[in-house]
Amino acid sequence: MTDASAVRMALKRALIFLGPPGAGKGTQAKRMAKQLGVPHLSTGDMLRDAVTRRTEQGRLAEPIMERGDLVPDDIVLGMVEERLSRWDCDEGFIFDGFPRTIRQAEELDEILQRRGLGKPLVIQFQVSPETLVKRVAGRWTCSVGGETYNIFERPPKTPGICDNDGGKLIQRSDDQPEIVKERFAAYERQTQPLADYYRTHGVLEVVDGDAGVEEVTRALNEIVKRAEGRNGHL
Ligand code: AP5
Repeated sequence: MTDASAVRMALKRALIFLGPPGAGKGTQAKRMAKQLGVPHLSTGDMLRDAVTRRTEQGRLAEPIMERGDLVPDDIVLGMVEERLSRWDCDEGFIFDGFPRTIRQAEELDEILQRRGLGKPLVIQFQVSPETLVKRVAGRWTCSVGGETYNIFERPPKTPGICDNDGGKLIQRSDDQPEIVKERFAAYERQTQPLADYYRTHGVLEVVDGDAGVEEVTRALNEIVKRAEGRNGHL
């Protein structure tokens, strides 16, 4: 059995990818979601979409995101609850960038309990500061399909153009060095404490996010398979 087929089964649970900006959460969440056939729920993507569509939530979030701070819990929780109410979330999902505060984690626990999904499986990406800086500085994202590249480590075949759909590659406005500094600080202050929260709940696993993309995918598959053994259904 290949790694991929080993975890292609009913997830029936929330997977949470926890880690600082540039850790590789989005890259791996996209892959894992495709493999498991469950939605990839990125609160960063939801918020950027709300900003682009000029919704009320987007208008409130935009200046906060441009500073590198966290958007208020109520806004994020409202978006997440709405997204989870859709049919495609019945069989589990992968969170990337959520929860990010203790309050978000506590409210998520309640939501999962109400939906009969039980405890989440949380995987923390551990990455060295030097790698994080390089990853964020080199990130380019497809404006059409959202595929992510890195000019230092995973460049597209043609500069500025997405390999998959020919879309134009763009840089995120919050990837400028002074904003990235604030995003790292917000992570340390508000999100890092979640590792202890989930460790105490007995659901935290750790992956070496410094490794290459394929290697990280393999390690994540191993973690998910082990969890399947413990829970009987994952
Ligand atoms: P969000 O969009 O969630 O950003 P983030 O958490 O800062 O994470 P990133 O998207 O920067 O990094 P990533 O870990 O996904 O890395 P990626 O896979 O792209 O949040 C943005 C903002 O929205 C926040 O600042 C906040 O304001 C707001 N927000 C969002 N959620 C919120 C919440 N819950 N509460 C409150 N506010 C919220 O990879 C990075 C680069 O590295 C890419 O170029 C990629 O190609 C490359 N790469 C990835 N993995 C590897 C590897 N293994 N080897 C080599 N290169 C790699």
